[in-house]
Amino acid sequence: MSTVPPTIHEIMLRAQAAHTAIPGFNIPYLPMMEPVARALRDTRCFGLVMVARLEWEKFAAGGVKPIYETYQQVKDERFSRLHLDHVPVIDEDNLLVDYEAILAEAATLGYDSIMIDGSRLSLDDNIAATRRIVDMAHGRGVAVEAELGAVMGHESGPMPPYEELFASGKGFTDPDEARRFVAETGVDWLSVAIGSVHGAISATARREKKLEARLSIERLDALRETTGVPLVLHGGTGVKKECVLESVRHGIAKINIATAIRQPYEALMDADPEGALQAVYEATVAVVRDDLELMNSVDILNPGA
Ligand code: 13P
Repeated sequence: MSTVPPTIHEIMLRAQAAHTAIPGFNIPYLPMMEPVARALRDTRCFGLVMVARLEWEKFAAGGVKPIYETYQQVKDERFSRLHLDHVPVIDEDNLLVDYEAILAEAATLGYDSIMIDGSRLSLDDNIAATRRIVDMAHGRGVAVEAELGAVMGHESGPMPPYEELFASGKGFTDPDEARRFVAETGVDWLSVAIGSVHGAISATARREKKLEARLSIERLDALRETTGVPLVLHGGTGVKKECVLESVRHGIAKINIATAIRQPYEALMDADPEGALQAVYEATVAVVRDDLELMNSVDILNPGA
C-alpha cells in the first residue's frame, strides 16, 4: 500500500513543533542543484531547494521553468521539496515586478511553496498583495511565505553600519503588525527581520565575505507569540552560530542559505567546473552538519523516509 507523502506545509508544522528547522538552499546556477540534493540525501537532512527571482535576473538560474525541470531530474522527495523564494512586488532596484504572473506560473507548474515579498510596500499594501497570492496558491494546494519588516542587503546602495542597525532595531518586524498581517493574509510562514541581512548580490559586492550578524531572540519571542505560524530566517549565511541555534529553539523553522554555497561555486566555476560542484557539495554538507546541526532531521520531519 502506498502512502501519500506529506506536504511541505505539514513538514514545516512538524519542524515548528519539534523546534527544529528546514534549511533552504538557493540555486543561482543550475548545475549547483545536483550536489545540493545529494548533500541533503547524504546527511539525511530534510531541506528545500530554492530559487529567487533575482537568481535568474542577476545570476544564471534560467527562470521558473528551467529550475522546475532541473529539479525533476535530481529530486528525492524523502529529503526535499521545491520552493520559489523572493518574488518581490518592488525589487531591489526599485522596479515594479509582474509578481502575480511569476507566482502563478510556479504554483501551476508544481512548486511546493512560493514566496511573495511585499516588504517594500506599506503594511496595508503588503497585506492586500499577499492575500491575493494566498488565495491563488491555496486554491492549488501550494504553501505561501511572505515577509514583513526589512531584511536588508540585496539593495545595491551602501548599508548603514551593522551595529548601528542592530542597536536601533530599525526595520525589525513589529509584533503587532505581524499579528495583523498573519490574521488578515492567511499566510503559512512568515519571514521576519530580527537582525540578519542578506548576502550582497550586486556585481561589485557579491564576492565579499559576509559580515557576522546577530539575532534579537527577544524580538523573535514576541513574534512567535503574536503570529503562531512557522517563522523564517533569511540571510542565513554568516549568522553567529549560537544565535542561529537559539533562534531555532525559539520559533525559526526555516533558514535560507545562499552566499555560503554560491561563493565556493563562483570561485571555481570557470577554471574547474568539476571542482566547483564538489565545492558546493562540501559547503552544503558543512552548513547542514556544522553550522545548523541538522543531520538526520528527516527522521523527525519525514519519518519512514
Ligand atoms: P544569504 O545569502 O545570507 O545566505 O541569504 C540567503 C537568503 O536569505 C535568500 O532568501
